[in-house]
Parts: sequence; structure tokens; C-alpha cells
Amino acid sequence: MKLIKKGAEADIFQTQWQNNNAILKIRKIKNYRNSLLDTKIRKQRTIKESQMLSSARTFGIPTPLVYFVNLEKSYIIMQEIPGTPVHDLSESKIIKLSKEIGKLVGILHKNGIMHGDLTTSNFILFKKTIYVIDFGLSQKTIKPEDHAVDLRLIKEILNSAHAKIMQSSWKNFLLGYKSIVGNAYHNKIVKLVSDIESRGRYAEVV
Ligand SMILES: Nc1ncnc2c1ncn2[C@@H]1O[C@H](COP(=O)(O)OP(=O)(O)O)[C@@H](O)[C@H]1O
Ligand SMILES: [Mg+2]
Repeated sequence: MKLIKKGAEADIFQTQWQNNNAILKIRKIKNYRNSLLDTKIRKQRTIKESQMLSSARTFGIPTPLVYFVNLEKSYIIMQEIPGTPVHDLSESKIIKLSKEIGKLVGILHKNGIMHGDLTTSNFILFKKTIYVIDFGLSQKTIKPEDHAVDLRLIKEILNSAHAKIMQSSWKNFLLGYKSIVGNAYHNKIVKLVSDIESRGRYAEVV
């Protein structure tokens, strides 16, 4: 097994599963947490992630296939998507893909799922298809306020990690989002995003 990413929460290894290239994502023990609580959190997020990867695919979101789950050791073995995280693509590509990303987020929200960690590293482009990964913090929710939190995060990421293209990619994201959720819901969520920003806990992102 080859380690490909050491994250704050999980380590990612490249491996094989029945002759397919696969990814093993294992949630690490956090010694600063009470160990019973830690076990519970790792288990919960592993369950959530594997359930949502599968559930999202049923309504048309491209996600890696889940091959195997071990709840005791809190790891998931899933299909490897041998593409490139959107985060690492050229600026012009990110601008173009933002509309499709907006559509994917719209489809998630329309189906009552908040992703919970919408960063450009959690979308992988492979052969013209954008796959969504990293559902450990996702939630079943139809609350507009929760959906607004998703949008606020991706807006923040576009502003910080991709500052030069923020305006055009955010505009495209919203066009895609609106095409799925409709005008009225789009306007409602955009208003809630401004509310979150004006509450002052967050600086406004222009
Ligand atoms: N199924 C997969 N196929 C290809 N690469 C993956 C896959 N899952 C994760 N990765 C890579 O590992 C990185 C971290 O995985 P992720 O599930 O997002 O964990 P984290 O919680 O650490 O962000 C991703 O940004 C991506 O580069
Ligand atoms: Mg991630």
C-alpha cells in the first residue's frame, strides 16, 4: 500500500481491491479526544461517508464506488478516480467547471443533502466527469440555512485558494446552482449567504 495523502483527519492510501485500483481512507485515532468519543466520531463519519457516497450516486452524482467498509478500524476502500482534484487545475478550467460544480451542489441540495466540506479538493475531474468525494461531514437536511453554509464555504474557498478567478467562478457556480434549484430557491440561499457574512463572524467575500 502506498500512502498518497496524510490529512488532518484521515490518511489516504493507494491499494488494490479485486484487481481494481482502489483508495483506502482510514480515519486516524486522535489522542487529544476522549477515546470513547473518538471511536464514536470515527465510526460515525465512516458510516456517513460510505452511505452518502452510495446514496448520492442513486440521484446522479458521480462518486467513487464503495468496495469495503471496516467500522471497527474506521476505514473505507473505494474506487480510485484517477483524475485531478479541481483545486490543481488551471484557472481557466476551474472557471469553466464552476458551473458544473454548482449543478452538482444543486442536485445534492435538491435531494436533501448538505455536503459539509465543499472545497475544490473534494471534486475530482476524470474524463470530463466531475466526481464528488469526502462526504464524512455531510448531513441529510432540507434546511435552507444548512444549504447556505455549504455555499458560503465554497465561496470562501474560491476567494482564498483561487482569488484571481473568484468573481467569474462564483458567478458560474451560481448559474449552475440556479439551473438546478430554480430562481426562487437560489435567491433565498444567496440572501442567506449574505446574512451569514453580515453577521460579522465572517468577513464579506466580494
Ligand atoms: N476515491 C478517490 N480517488 C482518487 N483520489 C482520491 C479518492 N479519495 C481521496 N482522494 C485523494 O485524497 C485526497 C483526500 O481525500 P479526502 O477524502 O478528501 O480526505 P480529507 O478528509 O483528508 O480531505 C483528495 O483530495 C484526493 O486528492
Ligand atoms: Mg477532502
